Amino acid sequence: MNKIKNYIDLNKERFIEELFELLRIPSISAKKEFNNDTRKTAKLLKTHFLNLGLDNCEIYETKGHPIVYAEKLIDKNSPTILVYGHYDVQPVDPIELWDQDPFDPYIKKTKIHPEGAIFARGACDDKGQMFMHFKALEIMLKSNTLPCNVKLMIEGEEEIGSDNLELFVKNNKEKLSNDIILVSDTGMISKNIPSITIGLRGLSYMEVEITGPNRDLHSGHYGGTVANPINVLSKMISSLHDEDKKITIPGFYDNVIQISENDRNKLNSSPFNIKEFKESIGLPKEDGEKGFSTIERQSIRPALDVNGIWGGYTGEGAKTVLPSKAHAKISMRLVPGQNWKRINKLFTNHIKNIAPKTVKVKVIEHHGGQPYVSPTDSIGFKAASKAYFDVFNLKPIPTRDGGSIPIIALFEKELKSKTILMGFGLDSDAIHSPNEHYGISNFLKGIETITKFHYHFKELFNN
Ligand code: BES
Ligand code: MN
Ligand code: MN
Repeated sequence: MNKIKNYIDLNKERFIEELFELLRIPSISAKKEFNNDTRKTAKLLKTHFLNLGLDNCEIYETKGHPIVYAEKLIDKNSPTILVYGHYDVQPVDPIELWDQDPFDPYIKKTKIHPEGAIFARGACDDKGQMFMHFKALEIMLKSNTLPCNVKLMIEGEEEIGSDNLELFVKNNKEKLSNDIILVSDTGMISKNIPSITIGLRGLSYMEVEITGPNRDLHSGHYGGTVANPINVLSKMISSLHDEDKKITIPGFYDNVIQISENDRNKLNSSPFNIKEFKESIGLPKEDGEKGFSTIERQSIRPALDVNGIWGGYTGEGAKTVLPSKAHAKISMRLVPGQNWKRINKLFTNHIKNIAPKTVKVKVIEHHGGQPYVSPTDSIGFKAASKAYFDVFNLKPIPTRDGGSIPIIALFEKELKSKTILMGFGLDSDAIHSPNEHYGISNFLKGIETITKFHYHFKELFNN
């Protein structure tokens, strides 16, 4: 009989209720009015760590939201696993598109999750996924079988760029030293097809402000005599892609590493159905850079997208106004070879160059981060592979994800260790969107797979 599975089965209701308690706290890192809630979440995490019997449980204050740390060091000769996760969540807007309160978690069956899914902001990204590690530890500690030293570091600023964690890591290299970093904050191919994320894109996040006249003007009296900042900004934005959907910023592709034909074929052979892709997001046709497949566009090729654009009158009815200002937030997803600080500069220069003399332009840099790739021949990858096989009865497929977790590349630079991304989310989980959810079976299988990882990692490390 499988002891791990048995334990999970006997305790799953409590696991879910404990997760619900976490999900009820609106730990939105981007908004100051939730600062008490991020702090409350950090305290609750510390309570969990104390209850697990971990050592050196500590809340580290930062200039922003606190970092929670704990460890269990069993043996100097055993390998050390550093678990990273984030307890902060994305804002909930547009709130009117949620079926229920995003911070009052509930279980509902869906087509993909007939056994039920947990609906709440953060259910998958990342409270639900992070919490699997807590429960995996519980299983190993309760059964006195913890095979590796474990350190846990959970931050509250992932969704806003991890600036303070960066400082914490740089100042605590010894404390955080490890043999492998383990993170559950990505997805898998589908419910029954396990995969391990071996690549993440980097990010450069910018804001552009165009100023025309010094005040909003009457669009009749002035219309046709001055440059309209929204017209100008729209034209500038549309010029950032050419006919082939290539990004037109000079030098943008300069250092992009082309992957080998062999790796390209491998990437394209992973299960992907373009019809399902389109249907799942209600789209008549896909789009993207000429010469690349959708999988490639999503993983090994960079992208530039407007995340938000505003200015002028957007209220009810019609107000005739020629706005003084126009704004856009623009993100660029980066791939190996590209450096986000260089891309920031190229973007800023290009935007200034293409702005007409009739307006003033300001470019603001937000957060950014480097892309990440990890090898498939490491013992970390092998241990993860075995763990997935134990639980899903299939060898996991290595995949590259389009999203970003900028701190992962920083871990590699500062701590000199690689990260294994064991994510259990699905594309349909709607992370960052209304009605975010996380399948109960993904949650429970995740706990089991993570537990197995610890045992396999220890075994492979010693051999
Ligand atoms: N967990 C996501 C990243 C992710 C999601 C990676 C799905 C792969 C698949 C993370 O919380 C996130 O949202 N990251 C941000 C970047 C951050 C700097 C705001 C992102 O990718 O937009
Ligand atoms: Mn996340
Ligand atoms: Mn996120």
